[in-house]
Amino acid sequence: MIAFDFKNQVAVITGGSSGIGLATSKLFAACAARVVCVDLKAPAEPVERARYVEADVSNFDQVHDCVGNILTAEKRIDCLVNNAGISRDTTIWKMTENQWDAVLNVNLKGAFNFIHHLAPHFREKNGGKIVNISSINGMRGKFGLTNYSASKAGLIGLTKTVAKELGRYNVNVNAVAPGYVLTPLTQKLPDKIITQAKNETVFGRLAKPEDVANLILFLCSDLAKHITGEVIKVDGGQYI
Ligand SMILES: NC(=O)c1ccc[n+]([C@@H]2O[C@H](COP(=O)([O-])OP(=O)(O)OC[C@H]3O[C@@H](n4cnc5c(N)ncnc54)[C@H](O)[C@@H]3O)[C@@H](O)[C@H]2O)c1
Repeated sequence: MIAFDFKNQVAVITGGSSGIGLATSKLFAACAARVVCVDLKAPAEPVERARYVEADVSNFDQVHDCVGNILTAEKRIDCLVNNAGISRDTTIWKMTENQWDAVLNVNLKGAFNFIHHLAPHFREKNGGKIVNISSINGMRGKFGLTNYSASKAGLIGLTKTVAKELGRYNVNVNAVAPGYVLTPLTQKLPDKIITQAKNETVFGRLAKPEDVANLILFLCSDLAKHITGEVIKVDGGQYI
C-alpha cells in the first residue's frame, strides 16, 4: 500500500485558492487526487490536477448546488476539507452584529453546509474523510477575537458530534488547530502580534501553510483510519 496515493480519489477543499487551502490543494494534487477548490475567487495561478468552482460556503443553497454539480461531474467525493475562513477582529464592545454574523456564517455555518449536503453521499458509499480547520484560538481565548474564537470552538463541537454520527458509515471526522501561519489572512496583522506569536512557539519560528497541509493529508490517508473526533494542533508549541 502506498499511504499517500490518492489516485482515483476526489478531494474538495473550501477556501482552496489561498494560504492553507492552496497549499493543501497542491499537496493533494501532487499525491494524485483530483482536487476541487471551492472559493469566492480563483487561485492566482492554476494548480495542476485541480479545478476551481465558485461558491460562497455560507450560502446553504449554493453549497447544495455546488455539491450536486461536483458529484455529477466527478461521480464521487472522498475527502472534504472545510478550510474557508475569515476574520473581523475587534473587542466585544465594538463588534457589530455584521462582524459577528459574517465570521460565524463563513467559518462555522460553511462547514455545516458542506457536511450536511455531503453526508448522504458518504453514507451511501460507506466511507469518507472530513477535516475541519479550527484554530488554537478556538481552544483558548484571544483578545479581539470573540467571533473568530467562537466559530473555531464551534467547529470542535461540530467535529466531535459528526464523528459520532457518521462513524457507523466509516467516515473519519477530525479538526486541525493551527497556531499562527503566514498567509494573506494573517500577514495584515500588526508586526507586534506576529512577533508575539513567533515568540510563543518553542521553535521561535512561524508555520508555513505546507506545515498544516501535511497534517490534513495525513488525516485523509489510510494511515489515519483509526483516528476520529480528534483536534490536533499544528502550532510549534504556541499553545503549551
Ligand atoms: N493563517 C493562520 O494563522 C490561521 C491560524 C489558524 C487557523 N486558520 C484557519 O485556516 C483557514 C485558512 O486560512 P488562511 O490563513 O489560509 O486564509 P486565506 O485568507 O489565505 O484563505 C482563505 C480562503 O477562503 C476563501 N473564502 C473566504 N470566504 C469564503 C466564502 N464565503 N466562501 C468560499 N471561500 C471563502 C478566501 O477567498 C480565501 O481564498 C481559515 O479557516 C482560518 O481561520 C488560519
